[in-house]
Amino acid sequence: MCGIVGYVGEKQAQAVVIEGLRRLEYRGYDSAGIALVDGGAVAWQKRAGKLANLEKAIVDEPLALSTTGIGHTRWATHGAPNDANAHPHLGRGGRLALVHNGIIENFVELRTGLENAGHELASETDTEVAAHLLELELDAGADLTTAMQRVCCRLEGAFTLVAIDATDPSRVVAARRNSPLVVGLGEGENFLGSDVAAFIEHTREALELGQDQVVTITREGVSVTGFDGSPSEGRRYHVDWDLSAAEKDGHDWFMRKEIYEQPRAVADSLLGRRTPSGALQLDEMRLSDEELRDIDKIIIIACGTSFYAGMVAKYAIEHWTRIPVEVELASEFRYRDPILNASTLVVAISQSGETADTLQAIRHARLQRSRVLAICNTNGSTIPRESDAVIYTHAGPEIGVASTKGFLTQLVACYLLALYLAQVKGTRFGDEITEVMDQLDSMPAHIQTVLDDEAVYALAREHVGTRSVLFLGRHAGYPVALEGALKLKELAYLHAEGFAAGELKHGPIALVEDRLPVLCVVPPQGRDQLRDKMLSGIQEVRARGARTICLVEEGDESIEPYADVLVRLPKVPVLLQPLVAVVPLQLFACELATALGHDVDQPRNLAKSVTVE
Ligand code: M6R
Repeated sequence: MCGIVGYVGEKQAQAVVIEGLRRLEYRGYDSAGIALVDGGAVAWQKRAGKLANLEKAIVDEPLALSTTGIGHTRWATHGAPNDANAHPHLGRGGRLALVHNGIIENFVELRTGLENAGHELASETDTEVAAHLLELELDAGADLTTAMQRVCCRLEGAFTLVAIDATDPSRVVAARRNSPLVVGLGEGENFLGSDVAAFIEHTREALELGQDQVVTITREGVSVTGFDGSPSEGRRYHVDWDLSAAEKDGHDWFMRKEIYEQPRAVADSLLGRRTPSGALQLDEMRLSDEELRDIDKIIIIACGTSFYAGMVAKYAIEHWTRIPVEVELASEFRYRDPILNASTLVVAISQSGETADTLQAIRHARLQRSRVLAICNTNGSTIPRESDAVIYTHAGPEIGVASTKGFLTQLVACYLLALYLAQVKGTRFGDEITEVMDQLDSMPAHIQTVLDDEAVYALAREHVGTRSVLFLGRHAGYPVALEGALKLKELAYLHAEGFAAGELKHGPIALVEDRLPVLCVVPPQGRDQLRDKMLSGIQEVRARGARTICLVEEGDESIEPYADVLVRLPKVPVLLQPLVAVVPLQLFACELATALGHDVDQPRNLAKSVTVE
């Protein structure tokens, strides 16, 4: 949700900022803008639409040379995605330029105050209000750091602000509350970004900031304070991936690259989890065995794809530990007055670690004295920082807006958590845990087998022109069906719905009409009761004219008579089947969206990291 870049150093800021925006464009692509300090003035340019529009504008009307600048790529909240509402926003006299991610909740009141004082605002945004307030502070004699501290004390809501002052090219000043911001530490130069991708080609040394902090970067260094001006500091860390991980590497889309990276991402997320004696270890598990033994209920909170990973986790945790698990949409969680106490473990799943709904949910849980464990892919992000424990997934940066390797590695982390709890609570014998860990270790090879079967590409292309697709699953295959439908909605803009196969006859079967494609995730053999019930569901839709596309384990012939198309999956246990079953559905959505001519990495109306509620 909005990408922000700041730079001060020896290089040309325009090139650094534009490159940073390119790497952050997945966070929002409604408009893009840049501002540079130019000999006592601010030089700026902004354009509605994708970054390419801004780049063209800069070619047509070049900006001055400068080594201090900021940039923004927008996902619109307040005001339409047009040029006027694009960032940067300027103060009344044009001395100050500001970019913003988040929502300033009290902006109406602040705007009224400014208008009463004679200010004219050029946009409908909440951001412009903060730009005017900052410039008033500068005009009253404050330096940019002090101005930022003072203004932040007056703002409510969620915001990352990054500003430059035309009279002071030596610094860029930023602030954060409930919205992401990291500092990139260079030699003779420093950077700001919504995430490390903004500056990864320049440095892998980063500084994680805390809540309600103001940071000032100059060529020489970085200083951090609280909003009240008191000295503070961030946490320094090394980014464990490099520029090549943020490139498409010959693929047409980041999403496709990320789908093909899944065997490696799963293997990396399993690495180092066993001690030499074979016991499970989770390095970032900051909860003691004693604390974990006290847990009598688990609530998993997440959004979107991460929520579906949570649904799979429920099956695994309950089966292996017998601890009751609830799975809840993070956006709904705190509004239902959930029953929480110190024996409840709240598990927050978030690829980005910045999703506002999930963040607010964990804050609510902690206020009720529950312990919070985060499953997250992003070091330095807010959700793990505010949690009692964390299991990091090792997917590497996920840039495609549609989550793929994020999902698979979240599943791995959920299985690890379930097995670890089983180990600590003694609900499974050591050799049973070892057996599942061995099965998990074989999953990268199984995922590779699915990726090697490219038949699903042709299948996807056959569906250009299809208006509606249904997905059916049971047990751990049900969240896979939901995830398959979500991928198709967000990428191909089709009506796609996932159902628990048994629910079909309670209403949704009315949707079935002649030739309607129905993708069915068939449980593996050995779970025959489940499989037989799934078979009934398949027959029911087929009898009504549906075209059944069945994802079924190799060697299972029983489905063949009822399948118009068979997609073969490797033989794996039912609880682990989501790791292989979702892959053809990802490929299907990616290929169909490509065939439809859609931008797979930047689907309409979406942004990667949803940092507003
Ligand atoms: O970063 P998070 O895992 O917290 O994100 C949650 C959802 O916003 C995310 O999974 C979203 O649904 C994706 N676009 C799905 O592909």
